[in-house]
Amino acid sequence: MKIAVTTASGLLGSSIIKHLIPEIGAENVIGIARSPEKIRHLNIEVKKGDYDSKADFEDALIGVDAVLLVSGNDPPDKRILQHRNVIEAAKINGIKKIVYTSIFGAEKGNEFSPIVASNRQTEKDIQDSGLLWAIGRNGIYIEPDLEYIENYKKEGAITNCAAEGKCGYTSRNELALAYSELLLKDRLAGKTYNLFGTPITQERLTTAINNHFNTKLKYVNIEPNEYMRQRKGELGSFLGTIIAGIYTGIKTGAFDGKSHFEKVTGRPHKTIDQMIEDFMADAPR
Ligand SMILES: NC(=O)c1ccc[n+]([C@@H]2O[C@H](COP(=O)([O-])OP(=O)(O)OC[C@H]3O[C@@H](n4cnc5c(N)ncnc54)[C@H](OP(=O)(O)O)[C@@H]3O)[C@@H](O)[C@H]2O)c1
Repeated sequence: MKIAVTTASGLLGSSIIKHLIPEIGAENVIGIARSPEKIRHLNIEVKKGDYDSKADFEDALIGVDAVLLVSGNDPPDKRILQHRNVIEAAKINGIKKIVYTSIFGAEKGNEFSPIVASNRQTEKDIQDSGLLWAIGRNGIYIEPDLEYIENYKKEGAITNCAAEGKCGYTSRNELALAYSELLLKDRLAGKTYNLFGTPITQERLTTAINNHFNTKLKYVNIEPNEYMRQRKGELGSFLGTIIAGIYTGIKTGAFDGKSHFEKVTGRPHKTIDQMIEDFMADAPR
């Protein structure tokens, strides 16, 4: 069984590849990247695949049994068309199964919703493809918060507009386990799974970070408009709007829900403390 993974140069794609290699052997894993030279170190078969090029994927997916489509990161309308390039190429090549990394969240109601809605369109395109399919709806990655620790230390606080809202966090390692299962186990096909741990508040996240990083951060809640202004100033309009939209979504419950992680993997999702411990163990010393 040959499995291809898109965006193999990215953190999620490469993490899933690392999980798949011991399961099916490096010779059966194909990494697809728009810049193939970035993934030579993975020591697997490498193919070129830019989401803007259907021709790239028609070629890259020859002889492949299952493909993991990792969601792209271009603006929503462009993303839908890019994902369709992969879905169409999979159909042309008679691929048996397609697995998609979607996102959990609300299709309406916050500035992140257009991204969620575009993911829902790709989910529909996949369900209509006629191929065997499985979809994961990812929670919010925990790693960016932990990578931001030096900034939090300087500020003495974690500041955002999530208030008391709960968020289901996950890590790329946890997702890699879940997506390996979705690719390998056909009994999981034909369903959509929410993939994250027990939803937590920002207060709980702040306490966990303080415990592990030996910090004394406070959680500070600010108004969504002010948070949006700050994020746009620091990150620019596109990314700033997305990040502020995510925290407005957390405030209004858009990232609080029931996870199906255990159903997919056979074990509970790691806790916030376990994910932070893993992050610290993996960090370069
Ligand atoms: N759940 C969350 O909290 C969360 C947070 C952020 C993002 N996401 C989503 O999850 C996806 C994977 O996350 P990640 O951590 O792996 O992101 P990442 O490490 O930033 O990797 C993004 C990958 O997308 C590739 N890419 C971008 N445009 C492409 C194109 N036109 N054609 C082919 N490849 C393209 C990049 O290739 P290059 O190496 O060539 O640049 C890179 O490999 C993201 O793309 C985004 O949709 C989710």
